[in-house]
Amino acid sequence: MRIIAGEARGVRLAPVPEGVRPTSDRVREAIFNSLGQFFDGGEVLDLYAGTGALGIEALSRGCEKTTFVEKNGRAVGVVRQNLTRAGFAEKGEVLRGDVTQTIGRLVAGRRRYDLIFADPPYRIPPRETEGVLGCLAALLAPGGRVVVESGDPLAETIDNLKGVSRRYGDTVVTFLERSKHAMKVAICPGSFDPITTGHLDIIRRAAKIYDHVVVAVGANLRKQPRLPAKERAQLIEKVTAGFENVSVEVMEGLLVAFAREQGARSVVKGLRAVSDFESEFEQAQLNRTLYPEFETVFIMAAAEHSFLSSSAVREIASYGGDVRELVPEEIQETVQRLYDTSADGQADASDKG
Ligand code: PNS
Repeated sequence: MRIIAGEARGVRLAPVPEGVRPTSDRVREAIFNSLGQFFDGGEVLDLYAGTGALGIEALSRGCEKTTFVEKNGRAVGVVRQNLTRAGFAEKGEVLRGDVTQTIGRLVAGRRRYDLIFADPPYRIPPRETEGVLGCLAALLAPGGRVVVESGDPLAETIDNLKGVSRRYGDTVVTFLERSKHAMKVAICPGSFDPITTGHLDIIRRAAKIYDHVVVAVGANLRKQPRLPAKERAQLIEKVTAGFENVSVEVMEGLLVAFAREQGARSVVKGLRAVSDFESEFEQAQLNRTLYPEFETVFIMAAAEHSFLSSSAVREIASYGGDVRELVPEEIQETVQRLYDTSADGQADASDKG
C-alpha cells in the first residue's frame, strides 16, 4: 500500500497488522475522487484508523491535521510508523481507545472536524455503526463530511446527516453531510437586564422563523449588570415557558463560540432605530470575522417598542416607578422588587440594552 497523491505521494506504508482490514488503494482513490482531490487545510478524524492510510492520504492532499482513533495496540504502532514515513508526525494525533468512548470525549471537548472517516470492522452490526454515526453530527464543522465504509448498505439518513452510498466490490462507501433540512437554530443574545416586552416580541417572532431559538444571556463588557446572569435567565425562562421551540442559556465567553456549540449559524437581534445600527453593525462584522459562516439577522422592532429599553426599565424601577407595559406581565412584580434600589442613581441610562 502506498500514498496515492499529494505531498507524500508514493510513500510505501508499513505492513498491515493482523486483524486489520485496510481500505484498498482502489477504494481509497475512489473516495478521494468523490471528495475532491486536494484540500486547503481542514481537520480530519480517522475512526477505526487501522493503518491510518485514509487520514494520512488526507494530510498528503493538504489537510492540516488528523486525529486517529484505534483500539488495537499494534495498529496504533503502525499508524505512528506511517505518519513518520510520510513526514507527518507533527500533523497526527493518535488516540488509542474504544471509538464510542473516544467520540464522547471529543464531543465534550467541543472538537470539530471537516472530514471524518469511519471504517468499522464489518462484523460490527450496521445498527451499531449507525449509533456511532448519530454522534458524529456534533463533531462536524460547518460544511463537513463523513465517509463510512461498510459491508452492507447503511441508512442514507442518520439523525441529521444525509448521504449517498456507492459500492466498490465488497465495500460500500457512504458519504454523509448535514441534511439540507437539518434544524435551523438561531441565537437571540443580549444582556436582558431585565427582559422587556420588546425583547419578548423579537424572540417570539424569531421562534416563528427558526426551528429552535436559544436565548443567550451574555455579558456585555460595556455594562455592569444589575442582576446576575442566572437570575436574568430565570426571568426569561418564566416568560418564554409557553414557547415550545425556545430555550434559555447563560452564555459565557464569545457569542460565536456559543453559537458553534449550539449548532447555530444565525444570530437574531432587534433593531429599534438608526441609533442601534452603528453598534449592531460593528458587532455583526466582528462576529463574521471570527466565524465567517455566521449571519446576523435583524428584526425590526414593533413601533410601540421603539422607545423601550432595559436601561429605561431599570431606571424607572429603581425609583419605584411603574414598569407595567414595559416588561412581560408574569415578571412585573419581580422586576419591580428586584430593580427597586430606592433611587440610588446607579442605573446606566446610556446603554440601549
Ligand atoms: O443586550 P446587549 O447588551 O446589547 O447584548 C450584547 C451582547 C451580550 C449580545 C454582546 O455583548 C455579546 O455578544 N457578548 C458576548 C461576548 C462577545 O461575543 N463579544 C464580541 C461581540 S462583538
